[in-house]
Amino acid sequence: MHRIAVIRGDGIGVDVVEEALKVLEAVAPKHDIQWEFTEFPWSSDYYFKHGEMMPADGPDQLADFDAIFLGAVGHPDIQDHITLNGLLLPIRRRFDQFACVRPSVLYPGVTSPLADKKPFDIDLVVVRENTEGEYANVGGFQYRDMPEEVAVQSAVFTRQGCERVIRFAFELARQRNKKNHLTSITKSNAQGYGMVLWDRTFAEVAKEFPEITTNSLLIDAACMDFIRRPETFDVVVASNLFGDILTDIGAIITGSMGLASSANLDPTRSGPSMFEPTHGSAPDIAGQGIANPMAQILTAAMMLRHLGEEAAAKDVENAVEETLKIGEVLTPDLGGSSTTSAVGDHLAKLVS
Ligand code: NAD
Ligand code: IPM
Ligand code: MN
Repeated sequence: MHRIAVIRGDGIGVDVVEEALKVLEAVAPKHDIQWEFTEFPWSSDYYFKHGEMMPADGPDQLADFDAIFLGAVGHPDIQDHITLNGLLLPIRRRFDQFACVRPSVLYPGVTSPLADKKPFDIDLVVVRENTEGEYANVGGFQYRDMPEEVAVQSAVFTRQGCERVIRFAFELARQRNKKNHLTSITKSNAQGYGMVLWDRTFAEVAKEFPEITTNSLLIDAACMDFIRRPETFDVVVASNLFGDILTDIGAIITGSMGLASSANLDPTRSGPSMFEPTHGSAPDIAGQGIANPMAQILTAAMMLRHLGEEAAAKDVENAVEETLKIGEVLTPDLGGSSTTSAVGDHLAKLVS
């Protein structure tokens, strides 16, 4: 029995989670999987009613689940720092989900906006540091609302924080056994403390993995190379903010935000990991029934794998790949005219 906390959240999160749950239910019998899904209504609607995104003991309520499955958070009528600092980010920190894993694969049947890219030319994974760095939430305002107002936002880099995510990324490169290459991304030419600690730590950990080749790029050049020659990347490890930015690029060069899966992992497994796609609540298309549920469904496959259900994970991934290749049941972001639920129904049928 896998006990899953489900937080649909806002906007398209509500709809794409619906489709992913369909697929998870559909794949279960074949693999003798039993699910217990517990829904938490925490969202911007919850905020409108209760003045908070989740109850104060919200994270405690999640502690005993095997995993957390989340859609997206963010509402055009509430400032993002309230919604995200009230729900998503505290969960990542509370459960020490320090490794955010975000694959970008150019699947057959999908057109990259980059010219002349063939299937699997792009096949990379960004490992994003997920609990500290620029997202440490350390800072404050002084002289609030006065002309002299000061805002301080500190990035926090710890040796242990850098070391554990960098080691995780090396291990992933080894396990993938593709190019056996790891790229580290910083901006240590301008950020002369935290990111210098990152660079030093990277060089130290690299000694433990002599079979993995490495290089270091500055974030600006890395953004360029994600466009210019994405095929050169295998595993990429980056700080919290840089990983965030790079993974939107990774998503779009492989076709759509609607294909970008993601997992917030606590590799020590002392608490639940959280599975949520890279994309947000997409207010520009919310309520239209046209969001692509594949990112959420591929994220569900990552959750299955984390729960030890490798065969079911493969089934789900194969169903998505097959559907992309045939190209008949696709949402508008991929050039199709199918609805969110038509794609979900189709995939559920394929995996059952
Ligand atoms: P977004 O990812 O929601 O949308 C960016 C663009 O990609 C939009 O044009 C959108 O229509 C498109 N898109 C995203 N997902 C799609 C899908 N599944 N199918 C088809 N098209 C898709 O980013 P944004 O617009 O910058 O942010 C919207 C809100 O979501 C903000 O409040 C933001 O803070 C929040 N956000 C939340 C998360 C999260 O909960 N993990 C992630 C990113 C952004
Ligand atoms: C993501 C999102 C979040 C992040 C936001 C909504 C706080 O953009 O998961 O990529 O930056 O981590
Ligand atoms: Mn992001």
